[in-house]
Amino acid sequence: MNNSIAKTPFVSRVRQRLQRLFGAWGVFFKGFLKHPVMVGSIIPSSAATVTKMLEPVHWDKCDLFVEYGPGVGTFCRPVLERMKPDATLVVIDLNPDFIDYLRKTIGDSRFYAVHGSAADVQQIIRDLGHEKADYVLSGLPFSTLPDQLGPKIAKETYDVIRPGGAFLVYQFVKKARDYMAPHFDQIDNGYSLWNILPCHLFWGWKSK
Ligand SMILES: C[S@@+](CC[C@H](N)C(=O)[O-])C[C@H]1O[C@@H](n2cnc3c(N)ncnc32)[C@H](O)[C@@H]1O
Repeated sequence: MNNSIAKTPFVSRVRQRLQRLFGAWGVFFKGFLKHPVMVGSIIPSSAATVTKMLEPVHWDKCDLFVEYGPGVGTFCRPVLERMKPDATLVVIDLNPDFIDYLRKTIGDSRFYAVHGSAADVQQIIRDLGHEKADYVLSGLPFSTLPDQLGPKIAKETYDVIRPGGAFLVYQFVKKARDYMAPHFDQIDNGYSLWNILPCHLFWGWKSK
């Protein structure tokens, strides 16, 4: 490339974005190779899935947003972009490499990355000074979680969400819906075709 073009702000912005994208994908893929069952996917969710999943969220009424299984942060930046300046995003992942990566790459005072299990969500948010979450988002591979962990996470999540809040779930198969059904009063269904692989979307609402 001609040297003067290569130095334009546009080209350096594109280069930074590509480096960020492929850097994140590399970290994600490495995570998959190390823990295929826990990660459950070879590449992060698509922008179309992120937009569709977050659409029903009432951001003006969201003080605490929790995410399970953030991986390399595909949802974290879009959530932070939409959140109020005084709201908080807590993300919980079992993989310490992902948590390290998120802590190094997301410098936002509203963001907390916790190494732990989604099953301990109540204790984790209490330790950070919160009682209830407004929304919980999950990218967990529910169908490959160890026995009884899926139902436990669904129950803990229902308990941690405030009345009027919601549990947002995306998954390649419908297993998560079975775990949500005993608790959530209303479950809306969607589908994201523009994802590898296409995935089911569920919004479980807790009545007011
Ligand atoms: C399919 S990846 C989701 C990646 C990311 N959210 C995305 O949209 O690209 C699943 C993630 O769940 C994490 N995970 C698996 N079991 C977990 C658990 N019990 N608690 C918290 N995170 C867990 C994995 O480490 C991995 O980061």
